[in-house]
Amino acid sequence: MPTVYIKTYGCQMNERDSEAVAAQLVGRGYSLVDEEQGADVVLLNTCSVRDLAEQKALGKMQAMVGHSRKHRTGQVFGYLGCMAQSRGQSLAEGVDGVQLVLGTQKFHRAADHVEDLLTGRQKVVVDTDAEEGSQSKLAEHLSTAAAPGRRQVSAFVSIMQGCNQHCTFCIVPFTRGRERSRTIPEIVEECRRLVDHGVREITLLGQIVTSFGRREYAVVDGRSPFVQLIEAVHEIDGLERIRFTSPHPKGYGSDLIEAYGRLPKLVESAHLPLQSGADRVLREMHRGYTRARFEEIVAGLRAVQPGIGITTDIIVGFPGETEADFEETLSLCRSIEFDNAFVFKYSPRRDTPAASMAGALPEPLIEERHRRLLDVINEVGKRRYDAMVGRIVPILVEGISRRNATRYEGRTRCNKIVVFTGAPRHVGQVIPVRVERVGTFTLYADPSVIGVDEVEGSAGNGDEVAAEAGLKVVEMTAVRELNR
Ligand code: 5AD
Repeated sequence: MPTVYIKTYGCQMNERDSEAVAAQLVGRGYSLVDEEQGADVVLLNTCSVRDLAEQKALGKMQAMVGHSRKHRTGQVFGYLGCMAQSRGQSLAEGVDGVQLVLGTQKFHRAADHVEDLLTGRQKVVVDTDAEEGSQSKLAEHLSTAAAPGRRQVSAFVSIMQGCNQHCTFCIVPFTRGRERSRTIPEIVEECRRLVDHGVREITLLGQIVTSFGRREYAVVDGRSPFVQLIEAVHEIDGLERIRFTSPHPKGYGSDLIEAYGRLPKLVESAHLPLQSGADRVLREMHRGYTRARFEEIVAGLRAVQPGIGITTDIIVGFPGETEADFEETLSLCRSIEFDNAFVFKYSPRRDTPAASMAGALPEPLIEERHRRLLDVINEVGKRRYDAMVGRIVPILVEGISRRNATRYEGRTRCNKIVVFTGAPRHVGQVIPVRVERVGTFTLYADPSVIGVDEVEGSAGNGDEVAAEAGLKVVEMTAVRELNR
């Protein structure tokens, strides 16, 4: 049976789409491989949010196609996802050798197209049309696919596609289309199936999850459709933790804030994209909130869950951003004290309003602001991590560490990664660990003090609450994933 290699660029939504495509192919007997060399089918699932991401995928494809030609490997190459959607046909013409260009509403067709290309029924397939109902056509997961997958503790579930917000810097409305939500029963059924296969944590995904179902469902007792969805998923027995990404601050009404206090499976973690601390820039970005409103949301969350982990996204160098605007971003980051932040240099995207705005900043200035903001984020983040030393926190163990194959890793409810020397029996369990030392955003635990497989942390404890077992975690350091 043919082998497939899939490389994913960009966000968790892309990761989830890749997983669904992989599960589709595995379901038809294909096997997944970790390297492009020798794979019969090579797919790049692309990101368009910044130019750098597009250039990386284009460069990678060119190199692979060149290698394949030289060695006459006869591989099938394809682009999937956001860049395939926004560039379409030109990608098949650009690097010949690329036979498949598959848009964001066509992932469910991937296996059919791959088969047509492999058997020679088709020479080139470019499929980027809009498709009614496509948001509901991707429910396959590797852990539930026909072929046995590895044990998966944490799974992504897509709840909607698209975004209508039209932030002036953002290409997403062009690559992902308008907001289209799945139904609550459909999503709950997918989550239930995952939990039946051993999944303990679910991350609800979408480009703007807080807008979930707003045309399809009514507000009930002051609760938005998104909060109603969280409540429905919360009912699933055996599910331990619920996360979601990415929300929009305007979706943090009192109903959602209150849910953090009421629903024990909803973890104390929020990724709240700020983008800028200056009201003038927020207006130009079409963000729909002010600095004061953002501060109010954070205060509301901390009133309900004082230990909540809060992370953010910030863009530096938006057109017309003055030194004073930028300093407002710095001061807000200092006063809010984010646990971590992704800091991005503004990248003009085709067809977006900001790309034709006056006041483009010179690259060196953008670089300088990027560095200055990162310094503040690192300093504040380190303080927040240091403050955890000595605390006992429950972590959900996900599996072998992605950073060190001889160790295991898990996460706190507040979304901090802990690497420790565990054993296969720990995977899928919630175990308490004591933080003894903090490095630069990576956490490690001592092997001699694990052995707590009977101890189960219960939902709702938060990182704040000490668990019973007197475990000792010798070393904790944290990883930041700033370069995504
Ligand atoms: N330039 C730089 N960063 C961007 N983002 C979105 N569009 C752009 C752009 N044109 C960032 C935002 C968003 C994150 C996913 O990517 O911060 O929250």
